[in-house]
Amino acid sequence: MKTVIVTGGLGYIGSHTVVELLNEGYEVVVLDNLSNSSEKVIDGIRAITKKSVHFFDVDLRDYDKLESAIGYYQQSIVGVIHFAACKSVGESMKYPSKYYDNNVAGTNNLLMAMKRYNVGNLIFSSSCTVYGEADDLPVTEQTPQKPAESVYGRTKQINEQMIKDMHREHDFNSVLLRYFNPIGAHETALIGELPNGTPDNLLPYVAETAIGKRDLFTVFGDDYDTKDGTCVRDYIHVVDLAKAHVVALEVSVKKNLKGEPVNLGTGKGYSVKEVLDAFEKENDIKVNTHYGNRRKGDVEAIYADPSYAYKLLGWKAQLGLKEMVTSVWKWQKAISSKCCGGGCCGHKNKKA
Ligand code: UD1
Repeated sequence: MKTVIVTGGLGYIGSHTVVELLNEGYEVVVLDNLSNSSEKVIDGIRAITKKSVHFFDVDLRDYDKLESAIGYYQQSIVGVIHFAACKSVGESMKYPSKYYDNNVAGTNNLLMAMKRYNVGNLIFSSSCTVYGEADDLPVTEQTPQKPAESVYGRTKQINEQMIKDMHREHDFNSVLLRYFNPIGAHETALIGELPNGTPDNLLPYVAETAIGKRDLFTVFGDDYDTKDGTCVRDYIHVVDLAKAHVVALEVSVKKNLKGEPVNLGTGKGYSVKEVLDAFEKENDIKVNTHYGNRRKGDVEAIYADPSYAYKLLGWKAQLGLKEMVTSVWKWQKAISSKCCGGGCCGHKNKKA
């Protein structure tokens, strides 16, 4: 039995990764405190894969509970994939202590528990936010890191450093996967992104406006120095991203990687307006849109040089913008059709 521990495995990227791991024959143990996810996600995973996952309601800040879960499976663990973290940029600026506690103290506990049971492989969920406002595009793994714009970003920078430092006292392999902008949902529409309240991110906001839960979608700024004045990002389909984790798990050990950073993007930069246009065109729907002010802390443009991921992992993104925007819309329609009007998919926020 090859067991993978997935922290935050019921979240957006975590749940898609669990599906790919089960499809590849791994036994999956999910540790999740359900702070930004739901146990119902397990039903979606089971329906897609026809396989079950082991689930423990564990908060990484509870060291004893974390240690006993890892200890229980220690003989068969081939790796840990660590997603569990708070991820709202805006919230991180209001409540930094919450971010340092969850993201930094939580990761430290995980590293200690891995050492305690001699777990030898860690795949870490990092972000392109570690580059800050890059001087040169596309961004390679060697692009100098500037201080991150947000507390959230700083916790990711600190996490990367903590993992690298931990190699001094524990012999393990690790890969730091720096995601660009994950969007999309599983093609079955059985799992996808479930924003907690009002969405911060682009696609969930666009989709909720299209379905009528939000009145108006605001483009944050159209006076940037970009092709059409709106910000540019490297959007990557969440299923492509999930697959990269499964490959990284194996390559990490095979190539004896230690704190190896890898960009996960498509290499293509799309503007907010291009994504919005693609959503409207591919789904044949109009989104009530307003062009507003810039959002504080937004980076003008960033996209990846994804060539190292291909060289090191043999991985590259397969799905394009069309699959991203159509799967989001399919998912939005699926969750809205099940909505009870009580906040399960955002309704409460509109009515409140
Ligand atoms: C940022 C981080 C990313 C992190 C994520 C967590 C950078 C470069 N990226 O993503 O690493 O994982 O936060 O949440 O630091 N937009 C609108 N209207 C909206 C929402 C978004 O116009 O209602 C625009 C934003 O201005 C931005 C783009 O859409 O240009 C993408 O925004 P979003 O989805 O929030 O992601 P990032 O801010 O790029």
